[in-house]
Amino acid sequence: MNDKIFMDGILRGRVAFVTGGGTGITGGVARAFAEAGASVALVSRKLEHLEPAARAINDGRASNPNMGEALPVVADVRNFEQIEEAVLATSSRFGKIDIVVNGAAGNFLAPAEALSPNGFGTVVDIDLKGTFNVCRAAFAQLKEHRGQILNISATLHYLGTPMQLHVSAAKAGVDALTRNLAVEWGRYGIRVNGIAPGPIEDTEGMTRLVPEPIKEKLRKNIPLGRFGRISDIETAALFLCSDAATFINGAMLVVDGGQWLSAARML
Ligand code: COA
Repeated sequence: MNDKIFMDGILRGRVAFVTGGGTGITGGVARAFAEAGASVALVSRKLEHLEPAARAINDGRASNPNMGEALPVVADVRNFEQIEEAVLATSSRFGKIDIVVNGAAGNFLAPAEALSPNGFGTVVDIDLKGTFNVCRAAFAQLKEHRGQILNISATLHYLGTPMQLHVSAAKAGVDALTRNLAVEWGRYGIRVNGIAPGPIEDTEGMTRLVPEPIKEKLRKNIPLGRFGRISDIETAALFLCSDAATFINGAMLVVDGGQWLSAARML
């Protein structure tokens, strides 16, 4: 990320619990938060994803002492007990949690008529129930420290998106969580917001879910004429989680170059 966009250390002293924080979009968000001074717990199922990401952040501290520390924590967001333990491990190590980023997600392409109930349920369990589990497990920390939640959603469910029924349903639920928690937990000073990324290049989702032949067609359909970059989501996340956004609660920030607005007419 271009670190000249924001003042140095805008998240200094904060502690972020980032699910899916080892790779992809939320891997970038976790690193950007550490660069902005936050300590970060990187949480996911696979230690082999977490360790290199945590090492890169912690090695970066040698040349940048203002950078926050990273802690890899293995937990499956579908398992509430594991998430409770991950929350405890993070608050024990860093003293608190005041930012939660829900980025852990599952996805595959499947037409609705071929989607098994378990396939549907698996994605809903990861994306939706996982987001609830993390918010619920971190609530006491967030309440004590007047913290905030950032849910990574999508634009798929704004329209009907073929092969993505399961993810669309899950992300629609995530948006409902964002709005409801913003209303219920606002009284504790907890802000709850979401980011809905469009197609982001250099991610597993783009490689695995967008077949090569339609990539160019998709790109042309984006009014700004390019795919998103992970850094586009990092800057949006930094803004929403910084003190620049202290009165923003229950917002869903679409970061897609205007793609979803134009997609339906083209398809
Ligand atoms: N098409 C159709 N169904 C699929 C599928 C595919 N490509 N991949 C998985 N499923 C179904 C399975 O068949 C299974 O249902 P069944 O028992 O009726 O056969 C169900 O989903 C669960 O699959 P399983 O592989 O046991 O789940 P998992 O927990 O190991 O994996 C996934 C989770 C399915 C989300 C897997 O795709 C994954 O781990 N992906 C990596 C993370 C990711 O997707 N990140 C998001 C990038 S955008």
